[in-house]
Amino acid sequence: MAKLWAGRFKKEVDQKVNDFNSSIRFDFRMYQHDIYGSIAHATMLGEQGIIPLAESRKIVCGLEEILAEIETGKLIFDEEAEDIHMFIESELTKKLGETGKRLHTARSRNDQVALDLRYYLKDETNELIGLTKALIQVFCELAEEHTETVMSGYTHLQRAQPITFAHHLMAYVQMFLRDVERLEDSQKRLDVMPLGSGALAGTTYEINRYRVAEILGFSDITKNSLDGVSDRDFCIELTSDLAILMMHLSRFCEEIILWCSWEFKFIELDDAYATGSSIMPQKKNPDIAELIRGKTGRVIGDLVTLLTMMKGLSLAYNKDMQEDKEAIFDAVDTVKLCLTTLAPMVETMTVLKDNMRQAAAKGFINATDCADYLVKKGMAFRDAYHITGKLVALCIEKQTVLEALPLSEYQQLSELFTADIYEAIDLITCVNERNVIGGPAKLAVEKQIKEALAAL
Ligand code: ARG
Repeated sequence: MAKLWAGRFKKEVDQKVNDFNSSIRFDFRMYQHDIYGSIAHATMLGEQGIIPLAESRKIVCGLEEILAEIETGKLIFDEEAEDIHMFIESELTKKLGETGKRLHTARSRNDQVALDLRYYLKDETNELIGLTKALIQVFCELAEEHTETVMSGYTHLQRAQPITFAHHLMAYVQMFLRDVERLEDSQKRLDVMPLGSGALAGTTYEINRYRVAEILGFSDITKNSLDGVSDRDFCIELTSDLAILMMHLSRFCEEIILWCSWEFKFIELDDAYATGSSIMPQKKNPDIAELIRGKTGRVIGDLVTLLTMMKGLSLAYNKDMQEDKEAIFDAVDTVKLCLTTLAPMVETMTVLKDNMRQAAAKGFINATDCADYLVKKGMAFRDAYHITGKLVALCIEKQTVLEALPLSEYQQLSELFTADIYEAIDLITCVNERNVIGGPAKLAVEKQIKEALAAL
């Protein structure tokens, strides 16, 4: 295909160079946004009298036809084309002849691609927000069922203090709520319309940039033409939000993987969300969770790609920036895929409450509560801590637990112990006494769930 810029050149570009240079293989996905962007531009050119109104209308109709043809499969992307922008413009010119050639008045591919990418990512970000909210909903619904499901909370992966499964799930909900907030915030910087920046130095035509922004539904326009074409902060910011989101998913998946092991057996994945081994007949593997953990590396990699790609670029546009698309598209696709796979996996898994409870009973996770019991009877915390430590050592020696240790043994270490100690160190009591805001008590977690659902 003859290049739109062929005028200055004496021979055609080398085939390999053409392939190397071309981005249509990955930027074709922005075809709708490119077409809508061009429709807005052509409309504004007509309204401003920069091109005749009749021709502007023809261009709009031609572009609408192209969109319909792509959508019905009548028009196939030409791999030879340099990018989606050139492809659509040449299709328009094929259709309209001279009129089609007027579309690119007062515009450069540099501001065009900046517009398309922002416009495309605005839609994708909305979808990402929706999917993250759907995941929050799944977590909250599961949490609602488990506000009394006692489990051990961990530090250093050692049993620490009693919590509930609901409380554990709601910790992730807090992370996901922050992810939504970050995505919503990044929308503010995305929602700025760069067309009119031209190649780098604006344009001499009397365009109306606000009108284009209005047609396309952008809240603002960029304020410096050099920055307008060479800013990719919005890609970096979105990918950074997505890398954090993936890090959260990955931490949860790591827990799923642990909980599926026979050593924990806190949950059982639905058969539809687990896989077997080609040689070991007994195996049921949490591949999905492992893949989400693995794909986190890809998204972090995408972020590093974008930062590294931008860090040495002089103003304004440089072709390096064409590399932005594969990275940002990969990050967006990967996160969408992970969110839509994780939600039903969590929804369908079986929570093995009894196993959680049994594991919680073994780790002296009520030792802090035992010490607090003495404190509430007047002892200084350090002394209470010391005495409880001795009690734990005694239990280990006698191969028993605090709940089963006879009162006489308690009383040998402190006279403050009376029969109500057993009630005080009951795991349910331990959880429900932690009724501080943000704590694991049933009431406190119910409040968290209510607030999270309200935030959606
Ligand atoms: N395909 C190009 C990109 O993605 C479009 C902009 C091309 N501009 C240019 N001056 N070569 O960045």
